[in-house]
Amino acid sequence: MNDVTTHERMKPSLDFVTVTERAALAASHWMGRGERDIADGAAVEAMRAALGEMEITGRIVIGEGERDEAPMLFIGEEVGCGGPAVDIAVDPVEGTNLVANGLPNSIAVMAIAPRGGLLHAPDSYMEKLAVGPKAAPYVHIDASVLENLTAVARALEKPIGDICVVILDRPRHGDLIEQVRSAGARIKLISDGDVDACIATAIDTTGVHVAMGTGGAPEGVLAAAAIKCLGGNFMGRLKPRNPQEAARAQAMGFGDLNRILEIGDLVKSDDVLFCATGITDGDLVHGVRFYENRARTRSILVQAGGTVRFVSTTHHLGSRR
Ligand code: FBP
Repeated sequence: MNDVTTHERMKPSLDFVTVTERAALAASHWMGRGERDIADGAAVEAMRAALGEMEITGRIVIGEGERDEAPMLFIGEEVGCGGPAVDIAVDPVEGTNLVANGLPNSIAVMAIAPRGGLLHAPDSYMEKLAVGPKAAPYVHIDASVLENLTAVARALEKPIGDICVVILDRPRHGDLIEQVRSAGARIKLISDGDVDACIATAIDTTGVHVAMGTGGAPEGVLAAAAIKCLGGNFMGRLKPRNPQEAARAQAMGFGDLNRILEIGDLVKSDDVLFCATGITDGDLVHGVRFYENRARTRSILVQAGGTVRFVSTTHHLGSRR
């Protein structure tokens, strides 16, 4: 990569971080106050204002819901003040319960790609399998849990007992948890926030090797964006919760709902950028810290080609607090 290209890519990237930073800062004031909707609303408003200042012609493809359900950052909303045409997937607060209860791993998240580069996933569930780069070629969503965990252990040159699998703590995952335990792997159950968990599989230092189970489909696209940049693997399959969700997915052109969604189906573009800012402390990044009249945020910025930047920013709050 020559210097000019590096410079050209770097500048907009750092601008994008300000979008998730502003959402995280806004939500963080509501940490532990038991007000998930207010925390989410504050983050949505802040993120939308920040996107409005970006030099892009942006279109929200994953956001707060359909136009009639969400006043801001609805699917199809145009954002930005002019520039390259891009599609944007956002989750201003990924883990609203986590923020409301002051629990770890809530993040403000955004992925951005050229037009058509991100799947417009329906508001439905998705079965997910995520692993990091070394295990990427050896797993498959249709393989058994034992086969996948054996393959991951071999790829990472670890005994299966050292492998850590993250699973959302939900009754629907009872069988999955049993299968992982019988295979001999360790489990980290999380109460919410599978975007963070899926991405953690692709970052060596997190101690997390596999994410499995069913969670939100839009969150699947966001996680896949980061994992694609990092060279890991993410496979998904829609799991509509009811006939209405199935009909909606079909109306969106999904056809065979059982079809496996490979990482390239979820994130079509190779020129994707992903950023997340911690709201509460987490595996990927620390949460917002307040001191004197300042706040410090920590963000992760991942770009196509595998460049990962951890960005620490001090914000002077002044009268905005
Ligand atoms: P929200 O931030 O929208 O509350 O989503 C949190 C989350 O835990 C996601 O990370 C996950 O994909 C999804 O909810 C799981 O849904 P459910 O709580 O219905 O099992």
